[in-house]
Amino acid sequence: MEFSTNTSVSIHQVKTAALAVGIFTDGVLSPAADVIDRASSGAIRAVMKTEFTGAANSTLVLRNLDGVAALRVVLVGLGKQANYGARVHASAEKAFAAVCITARITEATSTLAAIACPGTTATDRARDAASSVSDAIYHYDATFGKPNPDARPKLKKISLLVARSDSAATELGLKQGAALGEGVSMARTLGNLPGNICTPTYLGETAKKLGREFRSIKVTVLDTKQIAALGMGSFLSVSKGSDQPPRFIVMHYKGKAPAKAAAKTAAKTQAGPVVLVGKGITFDSGGVSIKPAATMDEMKFDMCGAASVLGTFRALAELGLPGEVVGLIPTCENLINGSANKPGDVVRSMSGQTIEILNTDAEGRLILCDALTYAERFKPSAVIDIATLTGACVVALGGVNSGLFSKDDELAESILKAGKQAGDPAWRMPLDDDYQLQLKSNFADMANIGGQPAGAVTAACFLSRFAKAYRWAHLDIAGTAWKGGAIKGSTGRPVPMLLQFLLNQTA
Ligand code: BES
Ligand code: MN
Ligand code: ZN
Repeated sequence: MEFSTNTSVSIHQVKTAALAVGIFTDGVLSPAADVIDRASSGAIRAVMKTEFTGAANSTLVLRNLDGVAALRVVLVGLGKQANYGARVHASAEKAFAAVCITARITEATSTLAAIACPGTTATDRARDAASSVSDAIYHYDATFGKPNPDARPKLKKISLLVARSDSAATELGLKQGAALGEGVSMARTLGNLPGNICTPTYLGETAKKLGREFRSIKVTVLDTKQIAALGMGSFLSVSKGSDQPPRFIVMHYKGKAPAKAAAKTAAKTQAGPVVLVGKGITFDSGGVSIKPAATMDEMKFDMCGAASVLGTFRALAELGLPGEVVGLIPTCENLINGSANKPGDVVRSMSGQTIEILNTDAEGRLILCDALTYAERFKPSAVIDIATLTGACVVALGGVNSGLFSKDDELAESILKAGKQAGDPAWRMPLDDDYQLQLKSNFADMANIGGQPAGAVTAACFLSRFAKAYRWAHLDIAGTAWKGGAIKGSTGRPVPMLLQFLLNQTA
């Protein structure tokens, strides 16, 4: 996807297959719509009296308007002007992209990014425009016998019409949005790939490929022997139940500090890298504590935390952000063979703490805890783990918010803020010490489950026991990483939140 800016002021003279203009429900035309309306002797105001109200997400296509060079003018509903904000803007760009996709348009022009929304900058709006358009044109066809070329969105180029004074800020936003779009799309495809293709080995190869593509990312992929040498007994206990060998992926991103901000960034670099840890269970059968069959296929999405780390690294490297970020991915399958974990088994984690496995389906925490211990060696400024960790989090928050757990208010606030800005929100959940009592075991330092009540919280409590050496936050993305039902598929969340968090760090 190619994005560009156009600072031409005579909108009605722009030659393009489709030109998007915004309409508010209060009968207010955006400045661009007003220009087109005048040029076409009132064509827009005429349809607003009858078939188009401007409701958010609605569209209407007008063709061959007299006095307008564009072949189509796409009226895009923006909702009530008073409610207009960055997110409404993003969904309007998506609605426009959807029109272009159905019409098989290859090049289109949008004026929507030029409409000022309260509390946003031209950069924000352009970033939103680019990332929501690339999200709209995402298409998965990796595993169809004969991919249908007609089903692939043809849209290749979008230019944004903006005021000359906004063009530099818009270019920056487009660059960020395009990089974010690529990161999200990578995360979505990794999530959507089936478990027999997207194995731990495949994720390791994907990381190595990223390292070859970008010199700013150094990648090391550890195998079973090397994982054992580190003493990761908890992680290995899960991987043993499968024929697929595990991998421990270490990615190290180092961005060049720009000359001006060098001093400021140097201070931050000394504070240590941000470490992102992603759960990489490429298929979760539950193990001996086996899951019900009905929607078990969706457990191929149990590596979406890992996918979000890989996608974020792609976007980071593409943007060449300053600073240092480490990505850690423990990845294996949770299956059932003669060596699989059994309820009652006790394993020793890399931290030395022992764990009684009362339920083999609570495997995510068993692989993450060793990665959290490994993270200590980077003396991180903050560690964020991202995991499709609990069904309980889906019950609590559904598909709207990811669950955020942290004892560090400042870190939590900055993650919540980034999520809001990126339209990829999280909701803070509790982490009181009192919940820790539920993890008591009679035979080990802790049990791997805490019973029915507050299942998402006790999972976070378990992880907190391995994250004492640094500032830490945990994101439970079980409800937000993918959608089920007829629109089954990965969302790429929380790549937008994570990239925004990192952008804010370096701003
Ligand atoms: N990967 C699942 C969590 C999950 C379940 C995500 C359903 C999305 C939808 C995780 O490994 C798991 O099985 N967790 C158990 C924990 C329980 C045994 C304490 C769960 O949530 O049921
Ligand atoms: Mn499980
Ligand atoms: Zn799982």
